[in-house]
Amino acid sequence: MAGTTRHIPVMRDRCVELLSATPKGVIIDATLGLGGHSEAILEANPELVVAGIDRDDRAIALASERLARFGDRFHTFHTTYDEIGDVAEQMRERAGLAVVGILMDLGVSSMQLDEAERGFSYARSAPLDMRMDPTSEVTAASILATASVGELTRTFRTYGEEKYANRIAARIVEAREQVPLTTTDELVAIIRECIPQSAKRTGGHPAKRVFQALRVAVNDELRILAEALPRAIDALDVGGVLVVESYQSLEDRIVKQVFAAGATSTAPLDLPIIPESAKPRLKLLTRGAERADERELEANPRSAPVRLRAVRKIRSTT
Ligand SMILES: C[S@@+](CC[C@H](N)C(=O)[O-])C[C@H]1O[C@@H](n2cnc3c(N)ncnc32)[C@H](O)[C@@H]1O
Repeated sequence: MAGTTRHIPVMRDRCVELLSATPKGVIIDATLGLGGHSEAILEANPELVVAGIDRDDRAIALASERLARFGDRFHTFHTTYDEIGDVAEQMRERAGLAVVGILMDLGVSSMQLDEAERGFSYARSAPLDMRMDPTSEVTAASILATASVGELTRTFRTYGEEKYANRIAARIVEAREQVPLTTTDELVAIIRECIPQSAKRTGGHPAKRVFQALRVAVNDELRILAEALPRAIDALDVGGVLVVESYQSLEDRIVKQVFAAGATSTAPLDLPIIPESAKPRLKLLTRGAERADERELEANPRSAPVRLRAVRKIRSTT
């Protein structure tokens, strides 16, 4: 299948290694995509079952086709990953197995990026859509048509770290009074107009940061991630492992903070005996964030920004 052969799962072997710690149980692949990581996990561990979550029904359909040969060792859930608690419950009931691992490979899939008509890419002319779930309401065009200058500025600055956020936001609002913005080309042209010549020579494509910011806003990515991480930890059985691969600093910061808090005792420093309830719930399995190595970077340039962090749950959260 063309859609799956061109896709290489990022840090696949490291993810499989981390998630193969317990040979029997359920692994929840919270970002199924084209099922590349799931396939590797199922192949390497004959007794593991995978539950794949994705908000994109096209990803679910393609991954289901790819992984059909695993029969009832593979289950799918079309939802957002903040519903992970429900998915874990359903899997415990269906398969009677412990949740021994969770993988979150954040962001958009190569399939979503490659499908020009979905509007994720600034390099190709397409409608301003950017929805990972094509049935959801908010699109990039609807945000650009309705948000105020202040709201757009905050979005571009916070989610894209765009230096010229205010100038671009003001120009968008001015332009939309003449005619609504409907295509990626129109947005790229506005961004180009607003970025000084000197800044265009550095920092990659001038539209990169605004496109990232819009994508994060359209899909409400950071709020969902921040809510999902504690739920993912709750959903794991003790001994289970959570692996997260982030592709931008805002995501990685959230992951790092949640992991660090979970790996720290909540007891005051001068307490001679630490009560069970104040002991850390997590053990860090990675020192800092792990990156893709040279060989992988060469084979798959999309692995360049990845930061992988992993923890083991060492104490029950209830
Ligand atoms: C980077 S891709 C995953 C690729 C996958 N690991 C593979 O090997 O094919 C991320 C996937 O997560 C999905 N996704 C992103 N945010 C999500 C969310 N909040 N809930 C559920 N799925 C989400 C996207 O639709 C996309 O298919």
